[in-house]
Amino acid sequence: EKGGYATFMEKEIHDQPHAVADTLLGRTDADGRLVLDEMSISEEQLKAVDRITIVACGTAAYAGMVAKYAIEHWTRIPVEVALAHEFRYCDPIVNERTLVVSISQSGETMDTLMAVKHARELGAITVSVCNTHGSTIPRESDAVLYTHAGPEIAVASTKAFLAQITACYVLGLYLAQLRGGSYADDAQSVMKELGGVPAKIEALLGQMGRVKEIAKFMADTRSVLFLGRHVGYPIAMEGALKLKELAYIHAEGFAAGELKHGPIALIEPGQPVFVVVPSPTSEHGLHGKVVSNIQEIRARGARTLVIAEEGDEAVVPFADEVIRVPATSPLLAPLLTVVPLQVFALWLSTAKGLDVDQPRNLAKSVTVE
Ligand code: M6R
Repeated sequence: EKGGYATFMEKEIHDQPHAVADTLLGRTDADGRLVLDEMSISEEQLKAVDRITIVACGTAAYAGMVAKYAIEHWTRIPVEVALAHEFRYCDPIVNERTLVVSISQSGETMDTLMAVKHARELGAITVSVCNTHGSTIPRESDAVLYTHAGPEIAVASTKAFLAQITACYVLGLYLAQLRGGSYADDAQSVMKELGGVPAKIEALLGQMGRVKEIAKFMADTRSVLFLGRHVGYPIAMEGALKLKELAYIHAEGFAAGELKHGPIALIEPGQPVFVVVPSPTSEHGLHGKVVSNIQEIRARGARTLVIAEEGDEAVVPFADEVIRVPATSPLLAPLLTVVPLQVFALWLSTAKGLDVDQPRNLAKSVTVE
């Protein structure tokens, strides 16, 4: 059942190319246009949407944060991400033109369910991005876009996360297609590129030997920091969450731009810091800014573990380790950059002799508020 792997988590990490490919499967026609048969909300209603609120918890909320950058860019519809357990209590601004997108692997997370119910009471249109057929959240929503990751057994979410991001891309691109014109043309070319991502994840998984090595020698580490920017910011937080859950190590993810507003004071000699570097093709010179951040923390003694695109040579002088990921357009990069962070957490937990699939104090689905 573990497919020859020692743990479900390791198997599920290796399932990821399929999770992404299967979530894309059957969602385009012969011309590459998106067709969402399950989207039981009328095109008219969707075209009238002027605001999107994503509700989710934990890893699913980080998928939502990635989705925010992508959906806003592709559709120009404002997207907000709310932690589901905060949503109900912040007097949310929601009406019948608001699309509330819940994201949940299990479909049973009570916090997320209550947020969906509240959104419906306020008149919102609700779509559930969910991995579990027939579970409660999709049943309580107006429509569902299933992720096809297959059952996820390990408590720490991996393949469901990639499938959630993929489904959110599909949703965003579908909304862009409905807007028509250049939005629709752009959507079609992104879909094409997305189709090539599973093969890149597969290739990346074949190159994780060094990450495993690095993790093995870090069993005594007490704290690890993660920096990212733009879509790399939620990935930094996801990397930190994986490490907290699996290795019981203090870990924090920061937006790299926040460094000088406080967190840089944490940097002392030997402090390990993962940096998720944006693609050199990113807009607004983001790549150069993150390279400067690496330089700044290195100058203060940090041990820099840098996740950078193949061919990005600018990071090399300031990196103690460079972990390469295949090139993609910047908004799709999270499907790749998170993989080394998952692999790192898996092997650090193993190096500490911990239970990878069943970390202490946690349940696979959180059915109480
Ligand atoms: O089933 P859900 O996607 O609603 O679960 C949400 C979170 O509880 C979940 O992602 C949690 O953060 C994971 N254990 C993270 O690895």
